[in-house]
Amino acid sequence: MTSPVRLALLGCGTVGQEVVRLLHEQSADLTARIGAPLEIAGIAVRRLGRDRGDLPVDEDLFTTDALGLIKRDDVDVVIEVIGGIEPARSWLVEALRAGKSVVTANKALLAEDGVALHEAAAEGGGDLYYEASVAGAIPLLRPLRESLHGDRINRVTGIVNGTTNFILSAMDATGAGFAEALEEATALGYAEADPTADVEGFDAAAKAAILASLAFHTRVGAADVHREGITEVTAADMASAQAMGCTIKLLCIAARGVDPTGRETVSVRVHPAMIPRSHPLASVGDAFNAVFVEADAAGQLMFYGRGAGGAPTASAVLGDVVAVSRNRLAGVRAASESAYADLAVRPMGEALTRYHVSLDVADRPGVLASVASVFARHDVSIATVRQGSAGGPAGRDGDAELVIVTHVAPDAALAATVGELRGLDIVRSVTSVLRVEGGA
Ligand SMILES: NC(=O)c1ccc[n+]([C@@H]2O[C@H](COP(=O)([O-])OP(=O)(O)OC[C@H]3O[C@@H](n4cnc5c(N)ncnc54)[C@H](OP(=O)(O)O)[C@@H]3O)[C@@H](O)[C@H]2O)c1
Repeated sequence: MTSPVRLALLGCGTVGQEVVRLLHEQSADLTARIGAPLEIAGIAVRRLGRDRGDLPVDEDLFTTDALGLIKRDDVDVVIEVIGGIEPARSWLVEALRAGKSVVTANKALLAEDGVALHEAAAEGGGDLYYEASVAGAIPLLRPLRESLHGDRINRVTGIVNGTTNFILSAMDATGAGFAEALEEATALGYAEADPTADVEGFDAAAKAAILASLAFHTRVGAADVHREGITEVTAADMASAQAMGCTIKLLCIAARGVDPTGRETVSVRVHPAMIPRSHPLASVGDAFNAVFVEADAAGQLMFYGRGAGGAPTASAVLGDVVAVSRNRLAGVRAASESAYADLAVRPMGEALTRYHVSLDVADRPGVLASVASVFARHDVSIATVRQGSAGGPAGRDGDAELVIVTHVAPDAALAATVGELRGLDIVRSVTSVLRVEGGA
């Protein structure tokens, strides 16, 4: 019998416990698929005494000495499901430099300093796999880094955060405001006690950086991603979207483009946006994730499934463990980081977007012309204008509602247009500003 592949598991919380269970339950199949058994050499945790239910694993395997475990000669593969930047970064760099293969679910670390991990993997000759770091169970990174390597990807648009998708779906279905929908998400366990990383878009931005790096063969870090969360999305915004046959989703968008000098670029952003109900991403409800990929030859592809949770995430982790174990037994390593294209990351102001703007304006002659002239001054072309009646949706006698949707323009020009509208006498208030994606 081939000698076992020995695993060090760093972290045994929501994901780690499911990794242990799957390793136990699937043991015979995993051995057959790999050609050697998988054996847990040790499990590093913070608190030895913590209740972890009836995990099918020997208590003696637990340790608080993660570094000691990583350095052991009989460890081949390190699985990191701790999270955070440090000490995870130092530990994984240590493991990779020592020639071990690493499987990690740590999106924050990959987006913050993926380069350090890739360089350490190249130095040590082991593999670095991280399928679970984006969109949980959904096979997505492997398709990007392998299956689509013969194609040219132009755009990746995704719903990659389950918490915010649950909140926005609830707002869409019930008319609730953000705070009320967040409360429901928290009560049902879809939102953490501190939901900042999710609702402010940090989690989605980290995933956007990872997706963009793989799709465009370019190093993109968290700091390169324009990020806006969903805390400012109101029930009125959702109602405006619904009136247009749209809904609102927190999207991560990574798009290939060309700057004014003709240089190829990539823009990477996370923000709420209106999308038409007919768009495949509009029907992605609850806490599900989905990623829509557009490529030259493949056309449009959609990846859909559970983006989080212990078992779905552990499924992705185990898939990676099988891959890196097979590679070790075959004495090969997967293709290393592909960053040859080195596209310039375009600032948000230059990204081409469309805006939907709702204004509460004075209901008198000439208002429409004045508003239109502001758009024209910023070189923003208007696609549609809808006018409500006086005392209508705007809610005050003598007022009217104007709803304007633009054609694409640089985001900075659109933002400047809205800024100038806010200062006009005839504009009582700008009631809603949303970016529009997907041809709405
Ligand atoms: N949960 C999900 O649905 C999900 C989905 C996709 C990706 N991920 C990623 O998976 C990773 C783990 O998430 P999780 O939800 O499983 O986290 P978790 O439930 O909080 O578990 C974290 C584990 O790491 C251990 N740990 C923390 N700091 C440590 C330290 N300094 N030394 C040793 N062990 C330490 C903890 O030990 P104790 O048990 O002793 O406290 C715990 O076992 C994160 O990177 C997360 O972003 C999670």
